[in-house]
Amino acid sequence: MYTLGIETSCDETSCSVLKDGDTILSNVISSSLFRHKQFGGIVPEIASRHCLEQIETVFRESLELAKIKPEDIDLIAVTEGPGLIGSLLVGISFAKAVAYRLKIPIIGVNHLEAHLAANFIGSKVPEKYVGLLVSGGHSILSYHEKEKIKILGSTVDDAVGEAYDKAAKLLGLSYPGGPVMDKLAGEGNPQVFRFTKPKQENPFAFSFSGIKTAVLYEVQKQQKKNGNSLLESFVRDMAASFQSSVVSWMVEKTLHAAEVMKVKHAAVGGGVSANSWLRKSLVEEGARRGVRVQFPERILSLDNAAMIARRGWELFKKGKKSGWNLTGLPNLKMGIK
Ligand code: KG4
Ligand code: ZN
Repeated sequence: MYTLGIETSCDETSCSVLKDGDTILSNVISSSLFRHKQFGGIVPEIASRHCLEQIETVFRESLELAKIKPEDIDLIAVTEGPGLIGSLLVGISFAKAVAYRLKIPIIGVNHLEAHLAANFIGSKVPEKYVGLLVSGGHSILSYHEKEKIKILGSTVDDAVGEAYDKAAKLLGLSYPGGPVMDKLAGEGNPQVFRFTKPKQENPFAFSFSGIKTAVLYEVQKQQKKNGNSLLESFVRDMAASFQSSVVSWMVEKTLHAAEVMKVKHAAVGGGVSANSWLRKSLVEEGARRGVRVQFPERILSLDNAAMIARRGWELFKKGKKSGWNLTGLPNLKMGIK
């Protein structure tokens, strides 16, 4: 069975062909990130225009690489939300047109659930597991048992990727900040700055706005000392200290959730799951506590259509599909549909 996945929730335009839910035959990604860099963030209008320009080429290339013809596709899975409405509508309209022409079923996919599903391409889905979804817009701890999803906690303010991007901006680094901070952190001393772990009533909730403000104060102190500039060593040590703190919070909460929910399995997804320290610490600390922690391959951590195809295939196998009234849902929550 061939599933065509289509992802256009933000700045990426991606199409993927997945065979029998487990073998990626193609996963073509066209990113418009280079067009947004100068603005220090994603510009929705630029993102949706890029999707519109790219979608047909990306679709054709994904079929060519998979060595299949449009008539071979059995199912189309497309991101229905959350995301930017302009970008979402490009993928959904394209998916509907192709599905209508080929007379094949179409299924709308939740982008957040797909990030976690990326872990299970080519492997068995655990009976129950704890999910950690960390991206530019979300930080969510969830519990999964069969098709039931329970949200254990989410961020009360900034998402972790957003905190990375904002801290990087304060340090004069380029957008997106996550990958740059990750690289610099490896060259700095994580013990130089100490950040207080935010206290919350719900032990599974996150908060990242406090650490961003703490970085701002340290930056201002440093600028006062050095005539408005930042020493390279300061930037490296700050990146390392910031990363060490936020990673330790994510590790602690995820493993605490596994303990409370009595599960031996955790799966991580979203752009921040590409982070090298998070990957290493969570896998190692998990192993010490008897929890197997799974991360998707790096390319499947970032936005891509293979994860959408996988999640769509899972839902279709359970008898779900969408109607022609499928539309973009910018604020779609995890576990709602
Ligand atoms: O899932 P994603 O590609 O897009 C959203 O749906 O938000 O996540 C993008 C976020 C950005 O905030 C980016 O800075 C962060 O993921 N990110 C990272 C790393 N790579 C990407 N954060 C920390 N370390 C990384 N290596
Ligand atoms: Zn994403």
